[in-house]
Amino acid sequence: MKSYNDYLALVNEAIAHISYPAQPARLYEPIAYTMSLGGKRLRPVLALMSCDALGGDIHAVLTPAVGLELFHNFTLLHDDVMDRADVRRGQPTVHRKWNDNVAILSGDAMLTMATQHIARTDDRHLPTVIGLFNRTAMEIYEGQQWDMDFEGRHNVSVEEYLKMIRLKTSVLLGCACQLGAIIADANQTDTEAIYEMGVNLGLAFQLQDDALDVWGDAATFGKEIGGDIMNNKKTFLLINAMKRATGDEAMELRRWLNDPEAPRDSKVAAVTALYERLGLRELSNEAIAHYNDLALQALQRTSMGGEAREAFTQLINRLVARQS
Ligand code: IPE
Ligand code: IPE
Ligand code: MG
Ligand code: MG
Ligand code: MG
Repeated sequence: MKSYNDYLALVNEAIAHISYPAQPARLYEPIAYTMSLGGKRLRPVLALMSCDALGGDIHAVLTPAVGLELFHNFTLLHDDVMDRADVRRGQPTVHRKWNDNVAILSGDAMLTMATQHIARTDDRHLPTVIGLFNRTAMEIYEGQQWDMDFEGRHNVSVEEYLKMIRLKTSVLLGCACQLGAIIADANQTDTEAIYEMGVNLGLAFQLQDDALDVWGDAATFGKEIGGDIMNNKKTFLLINAMKRATGDEAMELRRWLNDPEAPRDSKVAAVTALYERLGLRELSNEAIAHYNDLALQALQRTSMGGEAREAFTQLINRLVARQS
């Protein structure tokens, strides 16, 4: 097994070799721009790690793994339009630097580039991989629609939230892990268990993304803090705040949710203070620990050796400590 940074270097090298036609510039420049801004590259790294851990050839999974990163970045282009987000990876989002139409069409092109990369899987594994990818993509669109629908609803349950983040975020991490297992010709037990590991990792990952959206540092997180609060996103924090708040606090929360004109600074500061008073940072950390634990349990169900398990355990620890 290699370190995260070694897998990352392989992924980044492959991404640096993607070539983009020069014209139309407003189709391809936003793609090159997005792909050049880095990010954690978590999904392709997971695919490489899983493949390596299950005895496969990581070079055989590299191109489809880059396809998953292209796909992830496509979802971000459209997500930033949908979430009206101005900053990502510390830089202006595509729809702010160009405009919404550019973000939509460049995103479409990235989706097709993603498919092209994934289609470069060897013939023997291709039908399984395409099936997995298409199923995952449809689930992500469903999750994104639930996420948007929930902005306008005030009665979203924790169960509905978990279902939504499983779809919009976690299945792609599961897919990345399973891609590695498929290319490695892993047996069914390993292939299923590593998918479960990825999905649980993904639930913890999105819970933490929601927390960083409140308590992160914009400089390291690379996104504007408080975007979820401004959009009335039904995050784990807001849903539990609505459950826990009573009396004046419940009234205050309802007032912020129902005031579309609320100034950003005041609303973000007030809702954050309420989350803190209601003990939601702790509750969120407990939930993150719970899903990381389930990820580790799924890991134990695989036939992986000690070194590989240790590498995944370290990855989980790295993600728990993440500030970006
Ligand atoms: C952002 O994903 C979208 C979520 C699923 C929370 P990442 O946090 O993996 O973003 P990058 O790719 O590292 O920028
Ligand atoms: C993003 O969720 C999930 C997808 C892009 C599919 P968020 O909307 O929370 O992601 P960020 O915070 O903008 O990265
Ligand atoms: Mg979103
Ligand atoms: Mg967003
Ligand atoms: Mg977020």
